[in-house]
Amino acid sequence: MRSVDLIQKKRDGGELTASELTFLIDGYSRGDIPDYQMSAWAMAVFFRGMTPKETAALTLAMANSGDQVDLGPISGIKVDKHSTGGVGDKTTLILAPLVASAGIPVAKMSGRGLGHTGGTIDKLESIEGFRTELSREKFMNQVNEIGLSVIGQSGNLAPADKKLYALRDVTATVESIPLIASSVMSKKIAAGADAIVLDVKTGSGAFMKTLEDSEKLAQAMVNIGTEVGRNTAAVISDMDQPLGFAIGNALEVQESIETLKGHGPEDLTELCLTLGAHMVVLGGKADTIAEARKLLEERISSGAALAKFKSFVSAQGGDPSIVDAPDRLPQAPVVIEVKASIAGFVNAIEAEQLGLAAMLLGAGRATKDAVIDYAVGVMLCKKVGDAVAAGETIALLHVREENGATAEVSERVRQAYNIQDYKPEHRALLLSVITAAGIERYT
Ligand code: URA
Repeated sequence: MRSVDLIQKKRDGGELTASELTFLIDGYSRGDIPDYQMSAWAMAVFFRGMTPKETAALTLAMANSGDQVDLGPISGIKVDKHSTGGVGDKTTLILAPLVASAGIPVAKMSGRGLGHTGGTIDKLESIEGFRTELSREKFMNQVNEIGLSVIGQSGNLAPADKKLYALRDVTATVESIPLIASSVMSKKIAAGADAIVLDVKTGSGAFMKTLEDSEKLAQAMVNIGTEVGRNTAAVISDMDQPLGFAIGNALEVQESIETLKGHGPEDLTELCLTLGAHMVVLGGKADTIAEARKLLEERISSGAALAKFKSFVSAQGGDPSIVDAPDRLPQAPVVIEVKASIAGFVNAIEAEQLGLAAMLLGAGRATKDAVIDYAVGVMLCKKVGDAVAAGETIALLHVREENGATAEVSERVRQAYNIQDYKPEHRALLLSVITAAGIERYT
């Protein structure tokens, strides 16, 4: 087999076989196939696309390129969840204890944040003492004992994807649906879950800007899951504004605790109940989404979900007293009000700009090795649809000190709010759901 022939076949619109794709991925991983040939192939895929069969074969080849986590020692159906990334997205902090309290074992590996989106691991580490590096054995034992564990990604999961993603990043080939779908799913499959629920964002703050493209991406990922025997469901939600009010590590932990107590923001609560209901159905603990949702609502109102969060924090070395005394979480010494310069209605909030604002305050990393300040961040006071008076506070910056840099961040946050003199049409948060059975639009 020769790479050049496979590049040509794809360039001309052909379908590569599983063994041809494995040849490319294995050869590229070993360094036998050079970057320039892999780039040419990725560009051919960008223009020609891939069939569902090709996409599944590529995913498996990448999943097989490194460690495969065997969650076999954990009893029950393990359901993983993945989000395509969002600002203020703390759903894992809520979903993991919530679905665990409904009897679904959660054995989750999460990442750290880079750029404008925060990582679950950083958020958890804002709880004093919380450890995210556990041995595989301790990780599995904890899931068997208390029903959940969340750790940092360890080992060598899908290294071929890592190498290919870095190449795509510099060859303008990231925005290809089969390449994104196979990249995401290769890591999920290597991480060992039996079933996967995907939280696919759409809108200005998301990878996919239109509902149509988001649905195509979700469909491609569900097809892969189905093809490789992992039950997969995808929920598409709007990302035209941050999720909830809090952006920043400790602030997001606090908002997650409020949500587990049943007092969380409406959008965040709704998304968690919907994603959670799909996890419960795939995990075999309910037959219908409506039944699963009721079960989860009961787990919140009875306090079972919150109790699960507490035991999760304790089990991983964190201080569980933060649940009842959130002021024990890291607190920023200074809070600055950001005020609206004009009156009107909030029509949109640029999520990415707010993510960048939080990062500039120190809540995120501009580079891989940057150190995070867990206490700082942005709290929104107004969301899309809200009325604002001129001079009214629209957001609060939690900072170490007030200086020129925080003044710039204030201005960035003010600019991220699009205020008009009319009330915008209501936009639904949840747009569609895609399962092996097909697509269902909420609106
Ligand atoms: N996230 C991934 O993991 N892979 C992509 O290709 C794009 C986003």
